[in-house]
Amino acid sequence: MAQGIDFQISARDGKARRCALSTPRGEIRTPAFMPVGTAATVKAMLPGSVRETGADILLGNTYHLMLRPGAQRVHDLGGLHRFMNWDRPILTDSGGFQVMSLADLRRLSEDGVKFRSHIDGSEHMLSPETSMEIQKLLGSDIVMCFDECPALPADRERIAESMRLSMRWAQRSRDAFGDRPGHALFGIQQGGLEEDLRGESAEALAAIGFDGYAIGGLAVGEGQEAMFGCLDFAPGQLPDDKPRYLMGVGKPDDIVGAVRRGVDMFDCVLPSRSGRTGQGLTRRGPVNLRNARHKDDPRPLDPECACPCCSGYSRAYLHHVVRSGEIIASMLLTWHNLHYYQELMQGLRDAIEAGRLDAFAADFDAQRAQGDL
Ligand code: GUN
Ligand code: ZN
Repeated sequence: MAQGIDFQISARDGKARRCALSTPRGEIRTPAFMPVGTAATVKAMLPGSVRETGADILLGNTYHLMLRPGAQRVHDLGGLHRFMNWDRPILTDSGGFQVMSLADLRRLSEDGVKFRSHIDGSEHMLSPETSMEIQKLLGSDIVMCFDECPALPADRERIAESMRLSMRWAQRSRDAFGDRPGHALFGIQQGGLEEDLRGESAEALAAIGFDGYAIGGLAVGEGQEAMFGCLDFAPGQLPDDKPRYLMGVGKPDDIVGAVRRGVDMFDCVLPSRSGRTGQGLTRRGPVNLRNARHKDDPRPLDPECACPCCSGYSRAYLHHVVRSGEIIASMLLTWHNLHYYQELMQGLRDAIEAGRLDAFAADFDAQRAQGDL
């Protein structure tokens, strides 16, 4: 298999790794958090502002972009990077997971999944081959295999069948992706919470050979304890010399726990979505700015945060603009939340380099235990 992009591990602390993924569009420092830019925008943020928070890479979605504005149109307009004015790396999810949660009238077969758009009811087909084609048209730097993820709880037979289908699709994704220097293709491990099924999936993916390996099918309602139970073995089943990406995770404490278990990359809508519902995520835990206790509070959301929200605005102001439904409420809180997440990732990277991840995690827990200011 040709090398897609370079990956170097520079430090380890327990199972945790400090790494760098090098792409022609820039380096991705790991552990990394990827803000979600589903529809060619990280909602309420300019791309330059997303970069200022410290993000090295964004996530985009095949499912949304193929339906609107259409992958061919994005391609003809110069690709997703040019279209959305973000010139650094973009990872795109492959669409299958979003079809299952968002589309109408889904029909799953060996070939792929037929569905109707949740936007206008139009009929579409996604398969390993069409997903690879769409992600190529978008110009994605890190392409995800087309997979299927059963909703949990599901019985073991259903999970095993689904995982084996995803492994056949992983081989078809690999074949369709071909050889594209400077671009990476990641496989996606499935298998629910079952150690042997996860192991079978990891072996199938490693035999095909990918530039990175995602852990899929988690954070689908199983709870943190069950997820951590799975992460006690799942990352170790995947090749050590390639990046490991936990899809759709998570809350700050999920990320700290997953990094300690050997995960390198994350994406989640939480910091951006919760910013649009008046929630600030801080070192001391979540803060609901709608709450009346903030209405006369002159203090910033977090006095130790250097983001534009905390440097220039009081909790009283944030309370006012959240309650008033002002657009700036989404802008300020999304900025703060993404800044907090990137600062957390920098803290994790520094702690791994210094060999003091346990102390970092203990301090992280202690600050949250104190509660809001
Ligand atoms: N996002 C969150 N979980 C998953 C998954 O299992 N597969 C894919 N493709 N995307 C995801
Ligand atoms: Zn802030």
